[in-house]
Amino acid sequence: MTELSLRAATKDDSDLLLAWVNDSHTRQMSFSKKPVARADHERWLENKLRDPNCLLYIVIDAAGKPLGQVRFDIGPDREAVISASIDPEFRGRGIGAASLRLATLEACRTAELTAVRANVLPENAASLRAFERAGYGPPRSTEHLGMPALCLTFRA
Ligand SMILES: CC(C)(COP(=O)(O)OP(=O)(O)OC[C@H]1O[C@@H](n2cnc3c(N)ncnc32)[C@H](O)[C@@H]1OP(=O)(O)O)[C@@H](O)C(=O)NCCC(=O)NCCS
Repeated sequence: MTELSLRAATKDDSDLLLAWVNDSHTRQMSFSKKPVARADHERWLENKLRDPNCLLYIVIDAAGKPLGQVRFDIGPDREAVISASIDPEFRGRGIGAASLRLATLEACRTAELTAVRANVLPENAASLRAFERAGYGPPRSTEHLGMPALCLTFRA
């Protein structure tokens, strides 16, 4: 597999992030199914980029090509919630699991996190498997945004 690294997202990644968030499979596997409008996305990204409690990474290959994104929203007690997606072209090659692992370790180190939680739709088999491969604990049934969900936790 290609060598992966991380860089911080910037406002120049706006179009890329918008394309990824509106990818049809990503919408289908999200808790909110509606496509994201450009203006809402731009406002959202601006806020995330200046939020000290958000870490937004772009996963890149050895040539610097963006492959996906991993985001951590840090709450009280140094616990974070993770959200991620891989470019549809690069899915199913182990990049998702490796990216989740790389980004989780980096976020735990730089932000001194104690735990990271992933909320996943029960039907999102690829995501469940990728988080388990990345070292997250077994899924536990819960509710997220009013919907049945599985929560997996990484303990730093
Ligand atoms: C979830 C996602 C990040 C996984 O990335 P990926 O690069 O496709 O995953 P990997 O190739 O690392 O595969 C991870 C595991 O899932 C399995 N897998 C991959 N696609 C699968 C599928 N469609 N159905 C079932 N299992 C699947 C792989 O076989 C692998 O398991 P293994 O190691 O036991 O063989 C990616 O599919 C994605 O971006 N999905 C849309 C957004 C999303 O669902 N995000 C997660 C919510 S936070």
